[in-house]
Amino acid sequence: MSSAKVINVVSGKGGTGKTLLTAVLADILGNEGYSVLVVDLDVFVRGLTSLLYFHRKETIQLTQEDKMSVAEYFIDKGDVEVSGKSKFSNERYRSFDVIPSVTRVDEVLNFKDIMPDDKQEAREIISSMLKRLDKGYDFIIFDSRAGYDELISATHFLSDITLCIEEEDDISKITSDNLVKQLEQDANVPIFRLTNKARGIRSENDLASRGIDYLGKVPFDMDVMESFGTAYFWDDISRTLYKSALARAWNNLSSKLQLNKPVTENRINLIGSERLEERLQFISLKDRVVFVYSLMITIIGLSYGIFGAKGLSVFWNEFGTSQSLALVIGISGVFSSMYLLLKRKR
Ligand SMILES: Nc1ncnc2c1ncn2[C@@H]1O[C@H](COP(=O)(O)OP(=O)(O)OP(=O)(O)O)[C@@H](O)[C@H]1O
Ligand SMILES: [Mg+2]
Repeated sequence: MSSAKVINVVSGKGGTGKTLLTAVLADILGNEGYSVLVVDLDVFVRGLTSLLYFHRKETIQLTQEDKMSVAEYFIDKGDVEVSGKSKFSNERYRSFDVIPSVTRVDEVLNFKDIMPDDKQEAREIISSMLKRLDKGYDFIIFDSRAGYDELISATHFLSDITLCIEEEDDISKITSDNLVKQLEQDANVPIFRLTNKARGIRSENDLASRGIDYLGKVPFDMDVMESFGTAYFWDDISRTLYKSALARAWNNLSSKLQLNKPVTENRINLIGSERLEERLQFISLKDRVVFVYSLMITIIGLSYGIFGAKGLSVFWNEFGTSQSLALVIGISGVFSSMYLLLKRKR
């Protein structure tokens, strides 16, 4: 067994945000100085491998000639004599390594070739995969496919931690509960839940009453939604609540399991209040800046228009300083306009 902590990221239904979360978590840990490997086990959807493809400016071939992808390993049932390749292709992606699920991003695969015959075979394949992965990693994270099958069962069995990502809607809740019950039958590995795309619909009490080990909420964020996979995604993510909420969830996990591997949660907050920003999470960052600035102009403009110069003294004690106030608004205006103009074209 590898000495790395193995984390399996799963969800009851598809699209809850496993791949995005795996990539951002790996990058948070990588930037903190930990050595992280992500394995893309979702060989058909291959979201993480697609991220690598875009990162490499749409280079189709993702693995080195003499090295293996996850799919190749599955097809050979873990027997490296078949292909003659004995090592996985560890590809650098920002601050962490990735093993791509496929050799070429557009590869078409046969379901029967990939899937193990039963849980036992799946365990053997994943266990020998873990043994083959380069030593020296602090964390190995599996980006798994949604739902349950032999592979999910095996990765859960062989991991140190399973992270189940759910959304706030009822379908997500029931599929997540069912998956967790299923996994609990397979192995006694700790399972933690994390709510993603949170809009504040479900209260923390509800989660507690379901008796689940809960790490926290990662809010829905319009910028994250719009930029996932694009060239400016990583620039954007560092400014969002998404990243700080995920860092907080990780720190919860780290302290619950006494991993002693905390990460920093700080981020630059352009608005000043995290609570206000949470309310504005459905609006993109660009629009939020415009919103706050427009609000300032509206209040000042209306006060001046209705009450005259005296109206402005509500904001500024001494009459006569409204000129300085106008100057402040003017300068903020210049900065906001420059910010929007100079930001890379979307
Ligand atoms: N917190 C969030 N706020 C807004 N959008 C999000 C958030 N998290 C994920 N998304 C969006 O949800 C979509 C699905 O994300 P992702 O591909 O990571 O999910 P997944 O669980 O890996 O899906 P699959 O089951 O297909 O593997 C993406 O468009 C992503 O940008
Ligand atoms: Mg995915």
